[in-house]
Amino acid sequence: MPSNNNAQSNIPVKPMIQALRSTSGSTPLLKRPPFWLMRQAGRYLPEYREVRKTAKNFLNFCYSPDLAVEVTLQPIRRFKPDAAIMFSDILVIPDALGQKVDFIEGRGPVLDPIRHVDQFGILNPLNVLDYLKPVFQTISRLKNELDDKTALIGFAGAPWTVAVYMIEGHGGTDCSHARCWAYENPEGFSKLMDILVDATSEYLIAQIDHGAEIIQLFDSWAGVLSETQFRKWVIEPNRQIVEKIRARHPHIPIIGFPRNAGNLYKDFVEQTGVDGVSLDHGVGIDWAVEHLQSKCTVQGNLDNHVLLSGGQALDDELNRIFNGFSNGPFIFNLGHGVLQFTPVDHVQHVADFIHQWNG
Ligand code: CP3
Repeated sequence: MPSNNNAQSNIPVKPMIQALRSTSGSTPLLKRPPFWLMRQAGRYLPEYREVRKTAKNFLNFCYSPDLAVEVTLQPIRRFKPDAAIMFSDILVIPDALGQKVDFIEGRGPVLDPIRHVDQFGILNPLNVLDYLKPVFQTISRLKNELDDKTALIGFAGAPWTVAVYMIEGHGGTDCSHARCWAYENPEGFSKLMDILVDATSEYLIAQIDHGAEIIQLFDSWAGVLSETQFRKWVIEPNRQIVEKIRARHPHIPIIGFPRNAGNLYKDFVEQTGVDGVSLDHGVGIDWAVEHLQSKCTVQGNLDNHVLLSGGQALDDELNRIFNGFSNGPFIFNLGHGVLQFTPVDHVQHVADFIHQWNG
């Protein structure tokens, strides 16, 4: 049984944590790579839809520890992944800061957009930790519910991605307002990024204080930026957050996810100091093994659409990814979240494949 190098403790290291430490060379690789799935809790599960019906709106749902704990555990019961990700959303940060955030059925998030520096007055960073107390309660309760193999992941959106929603007011755009603002008034834009770096770091530190064992930072819109802008608004803020978390919790594993970053994934890993990097489905395995897996643990990167389709194509992709990545530090996941109409059987099939994997 693996040990955590602490002679006094017989508690085994959870596979997810072991995988995130393997790059240091101090921990051996696991026989079966650990796995979890982004959006493993969600509308594709009938039991999620039942619970969802009972909440007034989506944010209320996120702020109801009873409901949030229950839906976090639903995929754990079915698929026995190696991690639970607390149920919440990245847009709780703008909500806690005081921006108006709604989730509209069939449309997704809608925010009252911020387009000028003089609107920053509505944002109150001092409010954030108090406002998000229900999230910390959810984490504390989950920590008590999970067994000694299943890790608890806390998360937040990275500043660029959260800023995109705050500025655009909704998703599904080419991020035009945010991209132009960052070019036209970088000083003003960096004030917003500073507010988000501070609020996000405090929020993540509080998650760890309440029991989160791993942190993932979602930078879902990283891929729309040019190289220079990516360095300024993706690498630098992620680096600052990693540094602030490490100052308080030096050993907590942190996974970055600069989605669609292409070959900039390499500088992201080297310059932010993350322990793991989550790869979108477009990242080539040979390139990632050479440039990323030698530096940190890679996580990914099954196309969520092949999970939706199933069949032989799904098996071919599972074999390609496992054969490609499992000789180094690796956590299996998707390249982006489970889609709403994904058959539960397909997810079960993936879980069975992984539980039976034997190198
Ligand atoms: O299981 C998990 O992964 C944990 C929960 C989780 C949710 N959102 C729940 C959710 C996580 C980690 C997120 C992250 C998130 N939220 C991201 C980053 C990852 C990504 O998908 O790129 C982003 C960009 C958001 C913002 C967001 N939240 C959008 C754009 C939407 C609408 C799109 C959609 O899928 O509906 C949401 C709503 C949302 N967040 C749902 C869930 C389960 C669906 C809403 C519902 O049940 O009514």
